[in-house]
Amino acid sequence: MAKTLRTLVIGGGGREHAICWALRQSPQIEALYCAPGNAGIAELATIVELPDHDLRGLVDFARKERIDLTVVGPERPLAEGIVDEFAREKLRVFGPTASAARLESSKVFAKEFMRRHYIPTTPYRAFDRSDEALKFVAESSGPLVVKADGLAAGKGVIVCRNSDEAHLAVKKIMVERAFGSAGERIIVERLLIGEEMSVMAFADGTHVVPMIPARDYKRAQDGDEGPNTGGMGAYAPARSMEDDLFQEIYDHILEPAVRGMKTEGSPFVGILYAGLMLTDVGPRVLEFNVRFGDPETQVVLPLLKTDLVNVIGAALAGQLDWEPLSWREDVCAGVILTARGYPGRYEGGVPIEGEVRTMNNGVFCFHAGTARDGAGGLASSGGRILGLFARSATHEGAVAAAYAAVERVRIKGAQYRTDIGLRVRRVVRQRREGVARIT
Ligand code: GLY
Repeated sequence: MAKTLRTLVIGGGGREHAICWALRQSPQIEALYCAPGNAGIAELATIVELPDHDLRGLVDFARKERIDLTVVGPERPLAEGIVDEFAREKLRVFGPTASAARLESSKVFAKEFMRRHYIPTTPYRAFDRSDEALKFVAESSGPLVVKADGLAAGKGVIVCRNSDEAHLAVKKIMVERAFGSAGERIIVERLLIGEEMSVMAFADGTHVVPMIPARDYKRAQDGDEGPNTGGMGAYAPARSMEDDLFQEIYDHILEPAVRGMKTEGSPFVGILYAGLMLTDVGPRVLEFNVRFGDPETQVVLPLLKTDLVNVIGAALAGQLDWEPLSWREDVCAGVILTARGYPGRYEGGVPIEGEVRTMNNGVFCFHAGTARDGAGGLASSGGRILGLFARSATHEGAVAAAYAAVERVRIKGAQYRTDIGLRVRRVVRQRREGVARIT
């Protein structure tokens, strides 16, 4: 197949490193650029020194370099209308318009949309006045979740064990404006108990094709303690795609969401991400995102056998019903290393040593906040530094290989969770020993 495609990936995290790696597996790629990228992405793509929010600069770059396809990683440029800008210039870009991106950029919009289309989610109340929100949480009992309406880099969701904690969360978001204007409105909902699962799907405005489900670990510390983060580790597949549960997720969540956006005049083209809680009464949507998840992408794309360029091409042509996905039989699992203090204040510029090449003996090192220092050495440049992911025939093999890879990287003060994949590891072991079944 001729290498003809000139591509641009927008973003500079672990997710974009995994997207660049997956695109590089395609025989169709002639050139790959990434803006702004990171030190790991620089192994695979030509770095473009433009921030992901410089929409005009990115359009000009794509025109000048005759880019055939742009793939947008993060939510912020999508919410700010990068797809609309590119489309106005007749540039091919993969992602939802700003209007369709409201499924992520406004939690209130997403909740009202789910209510309109009977998509199962938690009951909620929306507030634009802090006094009303404070009164509501004071009168509530039991654990609650308080969410900033707008984008807050995965940190605007605060899990509260009681109404005192919910009071502090409302104050933090609406009064102190910890997340700026994202906190002008909030959602308060009851905390759901169950197992979390992330299902990402390709959507072409009409059709939706799910990827294998992943399990993400959002809280900073072992045992799901500590503040919410962008995600501290993941594994895939989290469930079999043959499960009835998966069909239920397709029938009651993914398909109605894509149909609903179309009927409301904002057809959804791009990656639809459903963050789910599997409860005793069925799957419930915790959130929709409008892009690949991080770190879910880092465990899902290494298992995709189909050429990613073909899938994206089919989505842009409205022909996803003609593009079945095929998956490796393996498991992929991985762990994110973060700077000390993340997701709060942290210091950058910490030297990184050890085995951090993109692909090394079945282990993927997907960089996030990494940069070259003046002397050509590698140093941290963000709270999420890098992730170590391993692909293996078994769940236990993948988890063990990912943690073994962590041991081969040295970053002073770096933090990571030690229980990624642990529950499944324990259940699998118990099942082998005949004392438990996965339910
Ligand atoms: N891992 C959660 C997210 O990508 O939003």
